[in-house]
Amino acid sequence: MDLKAAINTQNLPQHVAIIMDGNGRWAKKQGKLRTFGHKHGVEAVRDTVEAAAELGVKYLTLYAFSTENWNRPKLEIDMLMELLIKTIHAETKTLNNNNIRLQAIGHLASLPKKCQQQLNETITNTANNSRMTLVLALSYSAKWEITQAVKQLAVQVAKGELVAQDISETTISNALTTANMPDPELLIRTSGEYRISNFLLWQIAYAELYFCQKLWPDFRRNDFYEAIIDYQKRERRFGGVKS
Ligand code: IPE
Ligand code: IPE
Ligand code: MG
Repeated sequence: MDLKAAINTQNLPQHVAIIMDGNGRWAKKQGKLRTFGHKHGVEAVRDTVEAAAELGVKYLTLYAFSTENWNRPKLEIDMLMELLIKTIHAETKTLNNNNIRLQAIGHLASLPKKCQQQLNETITNTANNSRMTLVLALSYSAKWEITQAVKQLAVQVAKGELVAQDISETTISNALTTANMPDPELLIRTSGEYRISNFLLWQIAYAELYFCQKLWPDFRRNDFYEAIIDYQKRERRFGGVKS
């Protein structure tokens, strides 16, 4: 069945966020090291990014490394950072060919210098692309993000630049690392885990959640299409009643 043809392009989520999970288990199932799974996860990223851009999704946010992931063995972290640098470097040309802009959210200053440099280089290099924005969440956690937003607003109030009474949902949204991005309408998590793992807590207040059993390295465009088709069957009421 042609899943792509079953998608109503008039009812696409503008922003899809994905918790790419299951690389370690994928590798372990084959008697390989966890890092083997991360390497193969790149193929899933490539296919998903391409599928999302082709469909007309405007923002795709990928949870690639959480604040909590710093607790993993140093060898795995080092390999993930190396893979990140290599992949971003290698894919810059494809991003430009496909008119895709790269952005990053998270505590980027905590990433290795080389990683920050490569990110900045590709972000600058792709800044004028307009078909889709690919957002990488790196050293990201929602509680960290909300905490830094609260601090930022408190400083503005202390300086007299902002009146406490004027703090609104918009003020808070604008103090998050996702300022200027629409909230995700669809959140996908792979690997059969049913949790959010500290991802975009504020922004997913009304997102549709989609859990997929596949491990991330096995995820391909058809799985992405299935998630979109499922999303399109949902009745989004936002607390109201069906008209
Ligand atoms: C997701 O896969 C990738 C990252 C968190 C960096 P995992 O590495 O969490 O794989 P599992 O969940 O242990 O299988
Ligand atoms: C969430 O996956 C973080 C990323 C996908 C980057 P984890 O594997 O780190 O989360 P838990 O441990 O299942 O909550
Ligand atoms: Mg995991």
